[in-house]
Amino acid sequence: MATTYAKAAETAEAVEYAARLEHVSKSFTGPGGRHLVLDDISLDVAPGEFVTLLGASGCGKSTLLNLVAGLDQPSAGFITTDGRPALMFQEHALFPWLTAGKNIELALRLRGVGSSERRARAEELLELVRLTGAYGKRVHELSGGMRQRVALARALAQDSRLLLMDEPFAALDAITRDVLHDELTRIWEETGLSVLFVTHNVREAVRLAQRVVLLSSRPGRVAREWTVDIPQPRRIEDKPVAALSLKITEVLRGEIRRHGRY
Ligand SMILES: Nc1ncnc2c1ncn2[C@@H]1O[C@H](COP(=O)(O)OP(=O)(O)O)[C@@H](O)[C@H]1O
Ligand SMILES: [Mg+2]
Repeated sequence: MATTYAKAAETAEAVEYAARLEHVSKSFTGPGGRHLVLDDISLDVAPGEFVTLLGASGCGKSTLLNLVAGLDQPSAGFITTDGRPALMFQEHALFPWLTAGKNIELALRLRGVGSSERRARAEELLELVRLTGAYGKRVHELSGGMRQRVALARALAQDSRLLLMDEPFAALDAITRDVLHDELTRIWEETGLSVLFVTHNVREAVRLAQRVVLLSSRPGRVAREWTVDIPQPRRIEDKPVAALSLKITEVLRGEIRRHGRY
């Protein structure tokens, strides 16, 4: 019943996980009564690990990510994270009246970075997401892909060790998404962050992750998981990526058939 933020720096101990979920369940009460969405989920994300959480629409992926983010509480079980996680969604949620740079600076201000440092740090983060020069641009001047880059920079500005991503590239065209997959892989390798990335797209899950965790539907349970030991950088059309995706898709189809919807 608890979300705890473990502070590694304070205990000076090496943490063995970036996130730990122990027997987590979540129910919602609606007009039809109580509705079990997540059932007894146990899952660890190791420090520096990239895990994708894959499942059909409505299986509870966002619910699970919100619990890890501490935005909601589990009905049963425990969630522990190494510090407060950063979050990134499908919708960029940038403030349209602020420039790209100021959107990032806002996140820096919220974590107490002094005003003299904020500008330089924002410029650095824009450089990291390959948007050098976009500091003064307003949100409406940026393409969808650029907005998600700013949203990623803003999430990185929180200086969390765990990044939670909820279908962040789902609304982008395939080419832009490909480029952002490359960027995310590069940034993950450069920063050593742990990432828990939610998607319903099997190939995206395999393209990005070291480990793919498949959730079943109604209720969401861990159905299967796969270690992906294909070297990075991968391409979504690489043969080993396609072959593993096919295998996972078959299992996912079985799950969907069992529950009668996608
Ligand atoms: N706040 C809520 N109250 C009631 N039901 C909810 C709430 N949030 C999510 N649900 C239900 O939980 C299920 C899983 O939703 P969600 O986590 O958004 O799935 P996914 O992200 O995998 O598509 C859905 O049936 C949805 O209607
Ligand atoms: Mg969702």
